[in-house]
Amino acid sequence: MHLTEAEWLAGIQFLTATGEITDDKRQEFVLLSDTLGLSMLVIAQNNRKPPGATEATVFGPYRVANPPECESGADIANGAVGQPCYVAVQIRGLRGEPVPHAAVEIWQADADGLYDVQYAGNTDMRARATMRADAQGRVAFKTVLPEAYPIPADGPVGRMLAASGRDVWRPAHIHFMIDAPGYEPLVTHLFRHTDQYLETDVVFGVRSSLVTQWHRHEPGATPDGRASAIPFYTLDHVFVLNDAPA
Ligand SMILES: [Fe+2]
Repeated sequence: MHLTEAEWLAGIQFLTATGEITDDKRQEFVLLSDTLGLSMLVIAQNNRKPPGATEATVFGPYRVANPPECESGADIANGAVGQPCYVAVQIRGLRGEPVPHAAVEIWQADADGLYDVQYAGNTDMRARATMRADAQGRVAFKTVLPEAYPIPADGPVGRMLAASGRDVWRPAHIHFMIDAPGYEPLVTHLFRHTDQYLETDVVFGVRSSLVTQWHRHEPGATPDGRASAIPFYTLDHVFVLNDAPA
């Protein structure tokens, strides 16, 4: 079997269409790379981690530069809709040592599966922040529970997924980027263990080590010492950073 001339032409037309829909707001080639699994492959090859270190994953298209700087413990929702979710993370090194004062950036979708930048006319930064871990490597924040979301499927990549019978969905997650002197920077996600799309993530970003327990609680006392009149969620996780290359 070899490529026919008709198939070759169809391939060129597909790549041309991918270029034509790409502009400064939409990067269809990144989407194509992500949905082919190429982005995750390149990341895996360039971020080989020793046993015990947290695995790296794709950035995705929704990180924006200069998110609000918040104190640990802050509510980062800033108007994002969704059920309350209290997240507490600990950052450690491979020898179990706390990583003090790590810079932690967070970004996520809301209850409708949308990032702030997807709301027409919105200029507020919602459910995203940068914060500094304490001397014990701890960071906590209040946010909203993210939900699964479909990637933009109205272009060539969407047609490719439809033709191959694939889902367009990403399972619910929060993105983290963690940086500290002496350690390898980490870009990763935490996924919700109950999500129905964990096995079919359209960008192949899920790693079993990143699927985490998000606990639902009835109304009552919350981790920040207050009380919630509605049900809320908690997520606790330990990230383990690899040493910086010598
Ligand atoms: Fe995302």
